[in-house]
Amino acid sequence: MYRTHTCSELRGSDEGKEVRLAGWVHRRRNHGGLIFMDLRDGYGYTQIVFDPENKDAYAIGDECRSEFVIEIKGLVRKRPEGQTNQNIDSGEVEVLVTGAYILNKSITPPFEIDQDKEVAEEIRLKYRYLDLRRGRMHKNIERRYKMIKFIRDFMDKKNFLEIETPIMIKGTPEGSREYIVPSRIYPGNFYVLPQSPQQMKQLLMVSSFDRYFQVARCFRDEDQRGDRQPEFTQLDVEMSFIHEEDIMNVAEELVLELSKAMIPDKKIQTTPFRRLTWQEAIDQYGSDKPDLRFEMPLVTVSEEVENCEFKVFTGALQNGGIVKSLLVKGGASFTRKDTDQMEEVAKVHKAKGLAYIKFTEEGPQSTITKFFKEEEIAKIKEKMGAETGDIIFFTADKFEVACQALGQVRLACAQKLGLADEKTLSYLWVTHFPLFEWNEEEQHISAVHHPFTRPLDEDIDLLKESPEKVRSQAYDLVLNGSEIAGGSMRIHERDLQSTIFDILGISKKDAELRFGHLLHAFEFGAPPHGGLAFGLDRLIMIFQNEPNIREIIAFPKDQKARDLMLGAPSELPANQIAEMHIDIRKPAE
Ligand code: AMO
Ligand code: AMP
Repeated sequence: MYRTHTCSELRGSDEGKEVRLAGWVHRRRNHGGLIFMDLRDGYGYTQIVFDPENKDAYAIGDECRSEFVIEIKGLVRKRPEGQTNQNIDSGEVEVLVTGAYILNKSITPPFEIDQDKEVAEEIRLKYRYLDLRRGRMHKNIERRYKMIKFIRDFMDKKNFLEIETPIMIKGTPEGSREYIVPSRIYPGNFYVLPQSPQQMKQLLMVSSFDRYFQVARCFRDEDQRGDRQPEFTQLDVEMSFIHEEDIMNVAEELVLELSKAMIPDKKIQTTPFRRLTWQEAIDQYGSDKPDLRFEMPLVTVSEEVENCEFKVFTGALQNGGIVKSLLVKGGASFTRKDTDQMEEVAKVHKAKGLAYIKFTEEGPQSTITKFFKEEEIAKIKEKMGAETGDIIFFTADKFEVACQALGQVRLACAQKLGLADEKTLSYLWVTHFPLFEWNEEEQHISAVHHPFTRPLDEDIDLLKESPEKVRSQAYDLVLNGSEIAGGSMRIHERDLQSTIFDILGISKKDAELRFGHLLHAFEFGAPPHGGLAFGLDRLIMIFQNEPNIREIIAFPKDQKARDLMLGAPSELPANQIAEMHIDIRKPAE
């Protein structure tokens, strides 16, 4: 037996016991002959003491270095008065070593296994197995397991069935670029990895499994960001014979129970969750995933400024645009540098500039006040409820640009002023997304969510004439400014699905080739159905207060989609490539 206890288990009540512990040498201090060590395992730390009186054990203690794996036996004793350590579970006691054995040595690790020390992420990811020894990472991985277990139990209680769907499927792009897997036995043919189990789960509805879920791995070859990974995990859900409300209720109940169980000290802002249509969310907060822990709505002031002399505003209005404004309480104290920074934020998000008026003891201050009559400024001030000490920012542009750029300024101001309370959970639904959007890069119309999303019934007549006006039965669940889930009611009629493919410019032949399985399945009696998928990694990241998604994944990819520990992606031996009937053509330098 290597151990009788883990390194976090011993308490004052264990005093006098003879115990065995095993673990890693964490910290080692030599104090006037005595050697003190923190012994660490996957559960915590225990202080162990080597006394020179016990020569054999002491010699081992002396030989130990950081990260050696050792086994000890010894006597539990209380630490002297004033020397207990509140930071660790076993902080009341220490173990006086009576026998020790080195199980394995370690070379000097590239960084100290210490929570409090910052280590460059490249190094952490390269030596992930060491990084994962840290308490914080252990906690994250454990919490991840607990949350997923909770979710599975919840879904089970609600009579959902978890069904595994294949990882090697057919190339049927829904939106993002797919990872492809060459076939050896069918030269020139490929499998792809699923970007989500979307089509499979819809087919399961045709098969009458009417409450499906899966903790599903998804793969997307897209640019990485803090909250994205090329492979990530969804809680994927689909139901038949339901309306939007039914699936939203399941999702709402799930996150409420999960929040209460996992992070009970956080305050849930509103239940039932607030709902905004996409149009309202953009108009009022400049985002389709607004952070509503703070209010700060955007206000349209087009009417108030329409007769002013500021050409930037009137010009935007004449071009069918809009003037949006944002009141920031206490913002009159922003320095020139602050307002410049805010302008930069607006510009990064496509605004041409960011005008502002400060309300100071001396009256309104700005480079643009000269273009306004006093009563025009007074009108704006009144509409916005501004007082001395406040600032109002303005963007003038096309609706979406003006709103979205100012929405980002709203977030930047909230961050600067510390308005986003870490202890608050602000959930909301954003509904009625547009069905289509113009894809500038590819110069054609594309699906906002995916091509299986159902249009709003009352907008179906618009499909032929003005598809860009069609709204969808799609909904996103937002938590503190992050999209944690997205879903929709689906099309279950073959004809309607064909119409959507037509609008997306997918020819009949192409549709048959790519989505034939789905179209045919719809001919055999597909029930009305809908669903959604949570981004589990994002949800866990927010619950754990982590700044990025990599902190809650055991072996993540870095921001350039590499696995630094494995060294993936990597070249393969020529014969292995040849077997796949593939010629490699590298881009010119
Ligand atoms: P969607 O593409 O919106 O919908 O994805 C659902 C949720 O998954 C998370 N997510 C990601 N998390 C980490 N890394 C990524 N690269 C990544 N991409 C998405 C987000 C998002 O809300 N099949 C549909 C769901 C449905 O309609 O039922 C789908 O995949 O939190
Ligand atoms: P200018 O007249 O270009 O010096 O601009 C005066 C102020 O208006 C500056 O603070 C600009 O950032 C701002 N501004 C310029 N274009 C816009 C716009 N489209 N919307 C809001 N403010 C703008």
